[in-house]
Amino acid sequence: MKILIIGGGGREHAIAWKAAQSSRVEKIYCAPGNAGISQIAECVPIGVMEFDRLLEFAKEKEIDLTIVGMEDPLVGGIVDRFEEAGLRIFGPRKNAAILEGSKAFSKNLMKKYGIPTAAYETFTEPEAALSYLETAKFPIVLKADGLAQGKGVLICKTKEEAKEGVQTLMLDKKFAEAGNEIVAEEFLTGREVSVLSFVDGNTIRIMTSAQDHKRAMDGDQGLNTGGMGTFSPSPFYTEEVDAFCKKYIYQPTVDAMKAEGRPFKGIIFFGLMLTPEGPKVLEYNARFGDPETQVVLPRLENDIVDLFEACIDGTLDQTELKFDNSRATVCVMLASAGYPLEYKKGLPITGLERFEGLDGYYVFHSGTKLDGEGRIVTNGGRVLGVTANGATLKEARENAYRAAEWVNFENKYMRRDIGKAIDEA
Ligand code: AMP
Ligand code: GLY
Repeated sequence: MKILIIGGGGREHAIAWKAAQSSRVEKIYCAPGNAGISQIAECVPIGVMEFDRLLEFAKEKEIDLTIVGMEDPLVGGIVDRFEEAGLRIFGPRKNAAILEGSKAFSKNLMKKYGIPTAAYETFTEPEAALSYLETAKFPIVLKADGLAQGKGVLICKTKEEAKEGVQTLMLDKKFAEAGNEIVAEEFLTGREVSVLSFVDGNTIRIMTSAQDHKRAMDGDQGLNTGGMGTFSPSPFYTEEVDAFCKKYIYQPTVDAMKAEGRPFKGIIFFGLMLTPEGPKVLEYNARFGDPETQVVLPRLENDIVDLFEACIDGTLDQTELKFDNSRATVCVMLASAGYPLEYKKGLPITGLERFEGLDGYYVFHSGTKLDGEGRIVTNGGRVLGVTANGATLKEARENAYRAAEWVNFENKYMRRDIGKAIDEA
């Protein structure tokens, strides 16, 4: 079969790499893709929001299955468009992708169905938000309702900071319409865990757990980023936590979406906080995580195309997920110094050939492209996700950091403490 992957980051590289292992796949296209993806797929220069062109391309190439990696096209309704045209596509429809697209929606859903999450209020008027802050508890967390590339969450330590936050989100409109409504919620403490799952509208199958490192600098300092590195599984995600989440979070979320007339098919990514009172949902995403995918898919033993199809066909109940639990995985993100603010692009990358044919080591490209001379150069803030397996998390971490030295480009930057939390487990 011929498949089309929509997106062009490390997550899509990992999805393409995994799909390429399926005996059923004969050809992979990726729009727009990147230099790493182009080694396993044919990349086509079509943007992820160019629905008409994507649809035309899928028809012309007789694509059997399209897989959407990113949230923006999902929230924008790409699945509905493809389905209306009679094409098979993996991901939630617009009315279900709202689980990620609107934080007010997801918070109200959790409240209505008793799914554990931080206490909150929503506001559409800045005056009402400001007056609420007069008697609120601090720290408080302010979130833009809509999509903001993971940057629309402000943790405000004091009333003054929170007032500035309301100004930024609702009045200055830093994230445009995403800030038309805001959620103000209780600040939670604990360890964060990312749990990805396959969902077919009724049944949910949980993947191995992971932990991301969102801040730019060591010790969780600096600005929020798309994610500077991950490890999997999380030693803090115990069997007890898993049992709790299965009972009170995962299936209840799928059932709630169905009860609302918004059946969810695709990936639900649960961002959880393991608080002293038990696990609570920080956020939902309607797609794979980046860079969680880079540490989860290397240990998935199923044919991923079968899983995508089971979600579309509603037959996930007949499938069990299998992960290689004898190994652990760590991904260290190599970024361009200055990310997430300003950074250079177009810098040549060396050393990538070291990964070729090496078992247990992977380099997933996030922001790379081929320049006019066929050289691989940097093309984004996050450049490469250097990933390694190991018999233990510690070994995987050592391997990933060793491999991170094999690759070089000017201004290469990485956090040195990815997986440090493992030592406390
Ligand atoms: P989100 O995009 O909702 O996952 O938020 C981004 C990050 O902000 C999360 O990964 C957490 O580190 C932090 N965060 C979000 N909500 C809360 C909360 N209620 N309490 C503490 N930290 C939070
Ligand atoms: N790594 C966090 C995310 O994909 O949203």
